[in-house]
Amino acid sequence: WTATRDKSCKLPMPKGSMGFPIIGETCHWFFQGAGFHASRRQKYGNVFKTHLLGRPLIRVTGAEHVRKVLMGEHSLVTVDWPQSTSTLLGPNSLANSIGDIHRKRRKIFAKVFSHEALESYLPKIQQVIQETLRVWSSNPDPINVYRESQRLSFHMAVRVLLGFHVSEEEMHCLFRTFQDFVENVFSLPIDLPFSGYRKGICARDSLQKSIEKAIREKPLHTQGKDYTDALDVLLESAKENNTELTMQELKESTTELIFAAFATTASASTSLIMQLLRHPAVLEKLREELRSCGLLHDGCLCQGELRLDSIISLKYLDCVIKEVLRLFAPVSGGYRIATQTFELDGVQVPKGWSVMYSIRDTHDTSAVFKDVEAFDPDRFSPERSEDREGRFHYLPFGGGVRSCLGKQLATLFLKLLAVELAGGSRFELATRTFPRLISVPVVHPTDGLRVKFFGLD
Ligand code: HEM
Repeated sequence: WTATRDKSCKLPMPKGSMGFPIIGETCHWFFQGAGFHASRRQKYGNVFKTHLLGRPLIRVTGAEHVRKVLMGEHSLVTVDWPQSTSTLLGPNSLANSIGDIHRKRRKIFAKVFSHEALESYLPKIQQVIQETLRVWSSNPDPINVYRESQRLSFHMAVRVLLGFHVSEEEMHCLFRTFQDFVENVFSLPIDLPFSGYRKGICARDSLQKSIEKAIREKPLHTQGKDYTDALDVLLESAKENNTELTMQELKESTTELIFAAFATTASASTSLIMQLLRHPAVLEKLREELRSCGLLHDGCLCQGELRLDSIISLKYLDCVIKEVLRLFAPVSGGYRIATQTFELDGVQVPKGWSVMYSIRDTHDTSAVFKDVEAFDPDRFSPERSEDREGRFHYLPFGGGVRSCLGKQLATLFLKLLAVELAGGSRFELATRTFPRLISVPVVHPTDGLRVKFFGLD
């Protein structure tokens, strides 16, 4: 439990508290959420030590410190997820790969998120979003936006990424199992009946059984560039790289993709909807942009084929999505392990210690953002571009060799959702006040955000 300092290094250890034996400060973290890190950062500084999820770790905030950690991949640090995460994602996941194996796997995945591939997923993503908004609008009761956004991002991942055609009932079962998996990916690694960890393992096994069945039954479309889903592209890309993916690798890769997309995209979708409700002027400006590009006419979205390039050309929309991801970064940070002792902010990070770089705290404390707590999409406009000061002030998708592979897909999804909301929906907050936010495991409103959708007037 007590990780020690590197005695050969003269620098002091970071300040901080290690909490109780075995559990360390895990319970404080769960209960305090974002306040946990903020309070310790205020007390101990931007680099402090703590003990979470069964291991000691050093938490790092601030663009310069984060840059050193992220750019130090392979030389200073390497990936190191909590034991529960590593076990549940499996040895073939990107999260558990290092060095050349990681590079090779990323190369295979890169094609899955290429411009060409995204263009081919676009109509399906749009269709899934439109169907979902229709269901939300036809419900006479308010929608729990966070819960339903989880369902939406799961549908997107299963249908669009993997091209699975399963019945509504099967989809519902898969979703429930997947929720059990996700809820226990970050758990204490205690394998006892009824422990979260055991529940996570059972959920993963059941999920992968269904994935294997669906892969075996799936018709594959790998002729030419006419992809229909990411699984097709993945298989083709593996072939091009002279790699044969085993069923186990496919199952782990697909589980990892859905996992990576699920909670992050649901959190960002909920934050987007909340900000559009809070800031009607932003929603109106989005509509104005859609009108000026000919995508919105007489209050209706033009039903013609929407191209990836038209979405990319919407500059204000881009600013809105960036600002949502700055103020409500879904992923709070990433885990690494020090492969050698190094200096950070005048203290030592001893070899063998876990390091968690912080995204949300780095955004919240960055001096480059004026009025840092305000929702102000124009800060990303070409005239202001407050993020130009250096890319590690703004890092919702991480940075360095392990930055988010699904960044473009996630951004496209959020943009399409915003276009549909601005163009074709009317929606109102169904509670008197906006809910409080909690940040574990991802940012989300305490009551899920209750919203009444009306659809078109
Ligand atoms: C990694 C954020 C959506 C796939 C990451 C990392 C961050 C991140 C911060 C780096 C973690 C680290 O440094 O350890 C987000 C956010 C999303 C999002 C904020 C949505 C708004 C997606 C989607 C996919 C995806 C939709 C794929 C379908 C991945 C993968 C990695 C990753 C595969 C691991 C890359 C590696 O280890 O080389 N994401 N992500 N993400 N993300 Fe995302």
